[in-house]
Amino acid sequence: MPDTITITDDRTGKTVTVPIEGGVFPSSAIRELDPSLFVYDPAYMSTAACRSEITYLDGANGVLRYRGYPIEQLAGQSTFLEVAYLLLHGELPTAEQYDQWNHEVTHHTFIHENMRKRFVDGFHYDAHPMGLFVSAIAALGTFYDGAKDIENPESRHKQILRLIAKTPTIAAMSYRFSQGLPFNYPSNDLSYPANFLNMMWKIGDYEVDPVLERAMDILFILHADHEQNCGTTAMRVVGSSHADPYSAAAAAASALYGPLHGGANEAVVRMLNEIGSADNVPAFIESVKAGEGRLMGFGHRVYKNYDPRAKIIKETAYDVFEVTGKNPLLDIALALEEVALSDSYFIDRKLYPNVDFYSGLIYQAMGFPVEMFTVLFAIPRTAGWLAHWQELLNDPEQRISRPRQWYVGVDERQYVPIDSR
Ligand code: ACO
Repeated sequence: MPDTITITDDRTGKTVTVPIEGGVFPSSAIRELDPSLFVYDPAYMSTAACRSEITYLDGANGVLRYRGYPIEQLAGQSTFLEVAYLLLHGELPTAEQYDQWNHEVTHHTFIHENMRKRFVDGFHYDAHPMGLFVSAIAALGTFYDGAKDIENPESRHKQILRLIAKTPTIAAMSYRFSQGLPFNYPSNDLSYPANFLNMMWKIGDYEVDPVLERAMDILFILHADHEQNCGTTAMRVVGSSHADPYSAAAAAASALYGPLHGGANEAVVRMLNEIGSADNVPAFIESVKAGEGRLMGFGHRVYKNYDPRAKIIKETAYDVFEVTGKNPLLDIALALEEVALSDSYFIDRKLYPNVDFYSGLIYQAMGFPVEMFTVLFAIPRTAGWLAHWQELLNDPEQRISRPRQWYVGVDERQYVPIDSR
């Protein structure tokens, strides 16, 4: 069987044959048939918008790999900083490269005092930390002359370092501000996750618990990239106009903020609180099946199997609960999962727990308020966004993103002056 596809335009009888490679065929076939013909593909359901070497995802079989390494191995053996290096450079670092990378990131964690004093103070006292985070990422770019120098690899590297190093600082600052607490400066002698936890929680003699430090690192690894999701696509679309990476990352973070994307873990905890007890689970499932809402944390555009990240998060949850005590919402979540996975509504639609189903329970047990959940997602995802941004800029096939539309509005008509309408 040839690995080609032949498309015939029945209006003209013209035929074009193009190769199918890796399950993809070039849309140039359509342009060749008729340059004024476009493919209607709302939400890009059938469109591969780029070639990428970063993350492999097989949704049917629940497989996720960064640069070829299975997510289970990375979560079991690696650190987030090593994974960030891998995503950005394509290879795991040597010991020497890792030391240098660690040193560089650690020494870029501070933010300009004006960011903290003038910029953040302008927000209302109860501003949502994710709104503050999005704005702060965009504002950060205005502090660096080189931010717009995206053609220069050295400057690009510097901006990447700054964004990866400063997002935990901005995240912790957003939280402390919303609580009226004084800002904790970064501590360069702590690991990436420990420094973040320290900036979040340090009051008096606080010491980071190693189990929670490792759990945070695992959660960061699991959230570091997920190929062309909504946020990463926003990063690429904005990056394609050659905007600076801070503006592009702010756009990506805005996309992540939505409840159908990174905001889902917040929605999961709210849903579990509303259900209130495992006894109410069957009635809740019936209401979802009746179309009265969605089972948040279930379903995924790409995974039609158990999300491999959800499996790892569920295991990590038990380690965290050893330290923090069990989150009482766990029993409701387990009951929901059990009922949903044996119900034909969810089975037929291939709806399984996604990454957000259990992550919120861990975050809550660690003391994070629900408003911080998407911020916790955005910290590690910044590494993925930047890896895609870099790949985009180095890809000779990429140009400014500019989809076409199917115009369905009224045809030409004549302007009527207001007093004659
Ligand atoms: N609960 C109940 N039914 C669902 C759910 C759900 N969580 N998700 C999908 N369905 C149903 C839909 O009603 C639809 O049923 P129908 O065919 O009878 O109309 C069918 O499954 C297909 O759903 P779509 O909305 O077409 O699937 P899509 O791929 O567009 O949506 C999405 C994916 C947005 C993730 C969806 O499953 C959802 O809303 N889930 C809940 C929110 C969530 O957990 N989001 C986090 C995703 S992971 C992440 O972004 C990090």
